[in-house]
Amino acid sequence: MKVALGVCGGIAAYKAAEIVRLLQDRGIRVQVIMTDSAQEFVRPLTFAALSGEKVITGMFNRDSGAEPNIDSAIEHIAVAQSIDALVVVPATADVLAKFAQGIASDFLTTLYLATAAPVVVAPAMNVNMWEHPATQQNLETLRKRGVKIVEPGSGYLACGMTGPGRLAENEAVVAAAMETLGASQDLSGETVLITAGPTREKIDPVRYLTNRSSGRMGYALAEAGLRRGARVLLVTGPTSLKPPSAAEVVVVESAKQMLDAVLRLLPEASIVIKTAAVADYTIADPAEQKLKRGGNMSLDLTPAPDILAEISRHKKSQLIIGFAAETENVLDNARQKLKSKSLDAIVVNDVSREGVGFDSDRNAVTIITRAETIPVPETTKWEVAQRVLDCVVELKQKLSVVNS
Ligand code: CTP
Repeated sequence: MKVALGVCGGIAAYKAAEIVRLLQDRGIRVQVIMTDSAQEFVRPLTFAALSGEKVITGMFNRDSGAEPNIDSAIEHIAVAQSIDALVVVPATADVLAKFAQGIASDFLTTLYLATAAPVVVAPAMNVNMWEHPATQQNLETLRKRGVKIVEPGSGYLACGMTGPGRLAENEAVVAAAMETLGASQDLSGETVLITAGPTREKIDPVRYLTNRSSGRMGYALAEAGLRRGARVLLVTGPTSLKPPSAAEVVVVESAKQMLDAVLRLLPEASIVIKTAAVADYTIADPAEQKLKRGGNMSLDLTPAPDILAEISRHKKSQLIIGFAAETENVLDNARQKLKSKSLDAIVVNDVSREGVGFDSDRNAVTIITRAETIPVPETTKWEVAQRVLDCVVELKQKLSVVNS
């Protein structure tokens, strides 16, 4: 998801820098646009370094020194079409007036007209400017048009006056942005430990035992968790996927390494979701040298550590969600695992079905808790991740009712 963050000229412009980081923590890409007067308060370089993207400072790309061309002339249209929301922090009286009147006099105001994405404004200004009927009328016009206004707070203002006009708290601005993006922040304050991908058990220096897990389900959960406000610790076996940049990632190979990483991180977690397809068997004594071709051979396998069983032994109040891949007696086997592994929920998929589960973008699962069986018919892994997190939030709420 991508947000265009418009920064206007006000004392609070520096606070937009923190908002870039908070949005990125939730897995959102941020394209910063600065008005001319914003650049009097903060240098564009600050935002370029934070966002990792070029900062747009005007129409026609004049700053690059290059001649304006067709790309620079229509950049506002390209940005307008690529964003999922436009967020303006701080929104000055001037920009509110221009938005309300449809005046397209610079990049930001032109973008406002050109985009169909939802718009959030966080105003900050002197109390008299805020209370002026002209500003209030402009706000009313914008409100009616569906623009979300993050109300400023009251207090001491930079101009020496006291009253409404202070930029709302960063968290309130980010919550409004996320709400607009359709992502509620129901996991904020939680730390979710997710395991993903396959494990590899070494046979000799060039060979290993593994399975078909792609890691996509776990990575989708990591990204969805971040968007819903959680801190995400991702312990992943080898995959070809790029983890979400805000996740704290530990890359492991074997079941034993995954166990060690999980037990080390467990005390920090409030929720554990184990999507990893962990080896059930490992080779106790892998060959030091590459095994040579010969007649029949057999591998001596010993049970790999059962990570979930170990978690159950060490856990305190964490909520534990397991995954199960089954090919027969799907629901019965999953219910069995729910009990034997002392889980709060298990997400089971029938891996004998074509086109879903392993190595696919799609999945069809059943989420089983001690009280409910929730079918999730075939859909994307992203949607499955959302349904699993909905269930996690519900279980958390029940737990807090029981504890209170
Ligand atoms: N799991 C684990 N450690 C293992 C094997 C599995 O923590 N060594 C976890 C998986 O991450 C998953 C759950 O246990 O969340 C169920 O995995 P699954 O392979 O379906 O179950 P197994 O316990 O391996 O049982 P079986 O293979 O006999 O069906």
